[in-house]
Amino acid sequence: MNTVMLQTIVDALPQPALVLDFDYKIQSANLAAASLFETTLTGMDFVRIVRQPTAIKCLNMAVKTGKLKTCDLVLHLQTPRTYKASAASLVAMGENCILFTLLDVSAAIDAEKSRSTFVANVSHELRSPLTSLMGIVETLQGPAHDDVAARDNFLSLMQGETERMSRLVGDLLSLSKLEAKEHLPPDGQVDIPKLLRRIMTVLSESKAEYKNRIVLDVPKSLPLITGDPDELIEVFQNLIENALKYSEPKTKVDVCVTQSKNKITITIKDHGEGIAPEHLPRLTERFYRVDKGRSRETGGTGLGLAITKHILNRHRGRLSIKSKIGVGSSVSVILPN
Ligand SMILES: Nc1ncnc2c1ncn2[C@@H]1O[C@H](COP(=O)(O)OP(=O)(O)OP(=O)(O)O)[C@@H](O)[C@H]1O
Ligand SMILES: [Mg+2]
Repeated sequence: MNTVMLQTIVDALPQPALVLDFDYKIQSANLAAASLFETTLTGMDFVRIVRQPTAIKCLNMAVKTGKLKTCDLVLHLQTPRTYKASAASLVAMGENCILFTLLDVSAAIDAEKSRSTFVANVSHELRSPLTSLMGIVETLQGPAHDDVAARDNFLSLMQGETERMSRLVGDLLSLSKLEAKEHLPPDGQVDIPKLLRRIMTVLSESKAEYKNRIVLDVPKSLPLITGDPDELIEVFQNLIENALKYSEPKTKVDVCVTQSKNKITITIKDHGEGIAPEHLPRLTERFYRVDKGRSRETGGTGLGLAITKHILNRHRGRLSIKSKIGVGSSVSVILPN
């Protein structure tokens, strides 16, 4: 193989690749490597660029054995990222050099971490209603066996716990369905004011303390937007319900729709407890709640905003949350028009 051929191969590699001589001086590098290290690299000492004993050890082994050697590296460049590095001696091909490549595996590691956190969270969320169900069954089989009044009380507790598990399973199914179709844009037609009025009626009738609290302000004429009506109902129902449940009874929740050149903004404003700034960036994470006990008490799964975010991604829309402790929160949904 000649130098031009080798350079062509290195340039064609999508990941950062370097060719080194046996003094570990960089003979050539491709564009991906130059942009990763933010310099042209050719002529520089590898040891000064990658100051990692593991990488040097990997190169030494490749030279010594003439075989392909790999190692894991964490490079602290713009941000710390994890790479699978490989060093291959090219002596067998008639070249006295080593090909060193880097594969960024950070995304795969992050995905694995979030998968295992998710499984741990789901197990935890299912375990607590199951534990209380087991406790109730034991009590009903034992001390409360013949106590009719206690039995009624326990049955209603059991109903609450099974409903909670069923809501959780329903939300998890919703999430996985949404993930599967996130890249398919919706194709229905949605009348936003009509949809909001419907949600307002449903929520007002669902709980006595939600009655007469929602104040709707919509423009006289608004075009239909492209979207999935059921998914958008889920979005606004969760946001309006959050506004109602995380504020004092009898306080108003303002739902206001505005339209500009190419977008429709629906803002839900409450006069509730507000959310501290450090929580704001994490609210759309699965199971993230500011006050875990409070959310569970009110029957929440902590998945509402995660589902909302997925639906809005599918609609090419976004969520903007502003909040002040003691003053209230204002959540806006911005949809393309
Ligand atoms: N308007 C709001 N005011 C104060 N806190 C809020 C508001 N909206 C959301 N939050 C906080 O964000 C958390 C996440 O909300 P999300 O809707 O995802 O879950 P949830 O309401 O707890 O459960 P679910 O929506 O499944 O019933 C809530 O637990 C609450 O702590
Ligand atoms: Mg919610």
